[in-house]
This record gives sequence, C-alpha cells and structure tokens, in this order.
Amino acid sequence: MPASQPAFEVQPAQDSDHAAILELMAHWNMQHVPSVEVEELYLPGFNLVRSPAAVGALIAACGHKLLAPGRGKNTLFAVHPQWRGRGLGHLLMDRALQALRAAGARTVLTNTDRPESVAWYSACYGYRVIGRLPKLMDFGVSAIPFWTTMELDLDARFAGRPMDPLPADAPPREELPSYAGLSEHEAWDGAVDVRPA
Ligand SMILES: CC(C)(COP(=O)(O)OP(=O)(O)OC[C@H]1O[C@@H](n2cnc3c(N)ncnc32)[C@H](O)[C@@H]1OP(=O)(O)O)[C@@H](O)C(=O)NCCC(=O)NCCS
Repeated sequence: MPASQPAFEVQPAQDSDHAAILELMAHWNMQHVPSVEVEELYLPGFNLVRSPAAVGALIAACGHKLLAPGRGKNTLFAVHPQWRGRGLGHLLMDRALQALRAAGARTVLTNTDRPESVAWYSACYGYRVIGRLPKLMDFGVSAIPFWTTMELDLDARFAGRPMDPLPADAPPREELPSYAGLSEHEAWDGAVDVRPA
C-alpha cells in the first residue's frame, strides 16, 4: 500500500444509505433495484466505504446474504470508477466473506458479467466459474446478455487458518442444499455447467 493511501473505514449500511448505494451502482448500470434481476436491496448485508475527502460520499459498497443454510451469496458489489484499484474491493470482499463464514456459509455464489471482474474474483479469491445465466433485463454491461456464475469454496479458503468463525451448528458439507430454486432466477439450475466449450 502506498504511503499516501488514506485509511478507509468500513461501515455497515443504514436505511438512510439506500439512495446513495443505488447512485453508486448507477456508475455500472447496476442501480435497477427492485427489478427482475435484483428483487431487493438487502441492507443488513451491506458494508460501505465513504470518501475520506468528501464526507458522506459513498465510494464502495458490497452486499451479501445467506441463500440457504451453508450457502452464501454476494449481492451488489461496486467501487466508484475513480477509486478502483486501491484495495477497496478487497477490503469489502474480505469483510463479506468473514461475515458469511460466521453465518455458517461453506460456499459463496456470485453473478458477474465484466471479464475483468471474473478475472478479479478468480485470481484474487479463487472463485470458479460454474455456469452461465441469461440476463432478464438490461443490467450491468448492456452488451453482455448473460451472467457468469462463480462459486467460492469457503471451506478451502478457511482451511488451516487459526481463526475460522464457522459456527458449530453449520450444516455439514454433504448436506448443503442444491442451488436449484435458491436463485432469484427461476431458470437457474446450478447442477448444469453451461460454459461454452
Ligand atoms: C471488481 C471491483 C469490485 C474490484 O474492486 P477494486 O477496488 O477495483 O479492486 P482492489 O483494488 O481491491 O483489487 C486490486 C487488485 O486486484 C488485482 N486485479 C485487478 N484487476 C484484475 C484482473 N482483471 N485480474 C486479476 N487481478 C486483478 C490487482 O492487481 C490488484 O492486486 P494487488 O492488490 O495484489 O495489487 C471493481 O473494480 C468494480 O467495482 N468493478 C465494476 C463493478 C463490478 O464488476 N462488480 C463486480 C460484481 S457485479
């Protein structure tokens, strides 16, 4: 981290942050909530970073939720274009994964479209591509008509770490529910790998 890097503070979202989160998402055409793509802004799972210079200006936001016992999901996640590449994505993703693990998650699902974001999830965290999902509306990159669905194995990520917050009552791995029926997308069938050859 450069010496001039300001200290960023991660804060949980409040009800009053709703509009500012959607304004931030609008930089990436991800503000369409509620919609057929994202039915609600699930504020309890959101963490935020504000600009240290302009008080109150939101520069990064990342949401997460449990889809089912043991199954986590990243919801909306974006960094302001002018603040990319300064560690904010890592700061918020680390926080989301820690929270999901503490809530009993063994896997985390995400849907993304930008090739550079797919590369980021894969290279920085080890998410694996497990499928594709047609978009239901113009959301994110308009020229890309599908989501790339990726999964992170949180058991593998936390293996061997001295501090693993997984609760004792987390479901055993072999009892994790299948993804079918868990997604906002009725068409989603997580059992099928539909990547192009
Ligand atoms: C994806 C996103 C959240 C990442 O946030 P960020 O703050 O820009 O990322 P960070 O600064 O935390 O990460 C930078 C690191 O990722 C690495 N990185 C960046 N792009 C990469 C890529 N395409 N492939 C591999 N690594 C990459 C950098 O080398 C850097 O690594 P380092 O920390 O070891 O130097 C952000 O770019 C964004 O908002 N993108 C648009 C919206 C989006 O696609 N959201 C994703 C969910 S839909």
